[in-house]
Amino acid sequence: MFCREIARYYHRLFSATYSLRTPTVMHMTKLRARKAIGLGSCGALLVVPMAGAQMPLPAAKPPDGEILFKQQCATCHTTNLSDPARQGPSLFRIVGRPAGKVEGFHYSAGFAKADFVWDDARLDAWLANPQAIIRGSIMTYRQSNAETRAAIIAYLRELN
Ligand code: HEC
Repeated sequence: MFCREIARYYHRLFSATYSLRTPTVMHMTKLRARKAIGLGSCGALLVVPMAGAQMPLPAAKPPDGEILFKQQCATCHTTNLSDPARQGPSLFRIVGRPAGKVEGFHYSAGFAKADFVWDDARLDAWLANPQAIIRGSIMTYRQSNAETRAAIIAYLRELN
């Protein structure tokens, strides 16, 4: 029967997708799958599992600032004033706070001359390249992905 043929076809596609995951093969598999879906009505039933097989990563979700902060900043920064400072100063209420003013934290020399308040734009530039904002800064972190920076900054703002 027609349906069974299509099912068998998909079965083969599945095996191909799982065994050969090179980008080209994935691409070709997708093209063939699309054609097959157009062939018969019972093809529609098989679209869902196919989608699962071809896209091992979930569709792009907006990045979660809290998770990103934990992963990328929290080893060096707390967000309160009660825990002992880590490698970097506490980021408690950082949005709107003057730069380099956590008492007892030994900033690198350039912070002595810093005369600005952290806002979204400064934080964004800082996370992209700290040394471009404060020369000689010892923060060894850079984030080139603007979306990731924006999510982290939004999270910091939420903490205020
Ligand atoms: C490897 C450790 C490390 C990581 C990871 C790190 N930082 Fe830092 N951060 C520092 C250090 C050290 C300083 C102080 C820099 C200096 O004195 O030059 C600093 C300073 C800062 C400052 C300035 C604070 C002030 O009081 O003016 C901000 C803002 C900041 N970091 C945000 C972040 C954010 C947000 C992340 C994560 C996306 C992050 N940092 C990741 C170590 C780190």
